[in-house]
Amino acid sequence: MMNLPIRPRRNRKSAAMRALMRETELSAAHLIYPMFVQEGEENTAIESLPGCTRWCVNDIAAECESLYALGIHCVDLFAVVPEEKKDAAGTEAWNPQGVVPRAIAAIKKRVPDMLVMTDVALDPFNTYGQDGIVREYEGGAYEILNDETVEALCRQALCHARAGADIISPSDMMDGRVAAIRAALDAEGFTHVSILSYTAKYASAFYGPFRGALGSAPKFGDKKTYQMDPANRREALREAAADAAEGADMLMVKPATLYLDVIAELRASTHLPIAAYHVSGEYLMLKAAAASGWLDERSCMLEALLSIRRAGADMILTYAAPQVAQWLAEES
Ligand code: PBG
Repeated sequence: MMNLPIRPRRNRKSAAMRALMRETELSAAHLIYPMFVQEGEENTAIESLPGCTRWCVNDIAAECESLYALGIHCVDLFAVVPEEKKDAAGTEAWNPQGVVPRAIAAIKKRVPDMLVMTDVALDPFNTYGQDGIVREYEGGAYEILNDETVEALCRQALCHARAGADIISPSDMMDGRVAAIRAALDAEGFTHVSILSYTAKYASAFYGPFRGALGSAPKFGDKKTYQMDPANRREALREAAADAAEGADMLMVKPATLYLDVIAELRASTHLPIAAYHVSGEYLMLKAAAASGWLDERSCMLEALLSIRRAGADMILTYAAPQVAQWLAEES
């Protein structure tokens, strides 16, 4: 027999013992479900995001009723915009008759307790597929204009707040947009509307399936002058300090599982709640591996999401939310 006073395995000797020791929990209450809303009367399956749907305004509220019953109490809305409604300035983004404001109103009417979050950025709405306003120069050079974009984002945020949004979520990465949106909301009396800022959003290659779902891939260039360099961690702290000072209610790290170090770093440096976005590519990798039969979808998805919680995220945006809520209900 070894002389071992310290035997960590004692704390893992039974399911009940392991439950006593468990440091992190994953529950439906932590999940936010990103949803896509489109014009017309039809719901269409999204090829690049198996299990996800582009909903029409008429059906999204009924779906939210089922989600709410499953324990998912927050959805994040993204607009699917037909090419003919896109223009250089992205004006459809603040059309009060657009799909997002109409969907917000429909959901709040049918499921008043569902928290409705909305994505604020111009990429689904402008012809460039860029999150901001583009200025083109001779010879193909271009610039994403910061301050002009922030003005447009304020219009979009107000349009969503007027329709009844609970949480505004700017995903554009322009400088100063949190303070400007806060001021615009407050000036119209929307002091109760929250801001979840995409604080550390990286210029990631893992957004591909999402851009496929929306038809919003950049028509030229990339997003590297506003989204963060995947090589950087300290820069996330700088963004977090700015967002906190500007009045953000919650901070987000995106993507999630490839950036657990960033989540942990922010967790240690702020008292604000932290969200993490398990993005389309992270979701699709697991779905594809599970479809090939080599990974077990349920245990791998739950483990991936648990790792995000363990790193320090309070809430997780995930396309797996309905399925995960179902699995968790079966376990309890
Ligand atoms: C755009 C936006 C993107 C995502 C959320 N909002 C894509 C991008 O920045 O190009 C990505 C979500 C995902 O991949 O799941 N403002």
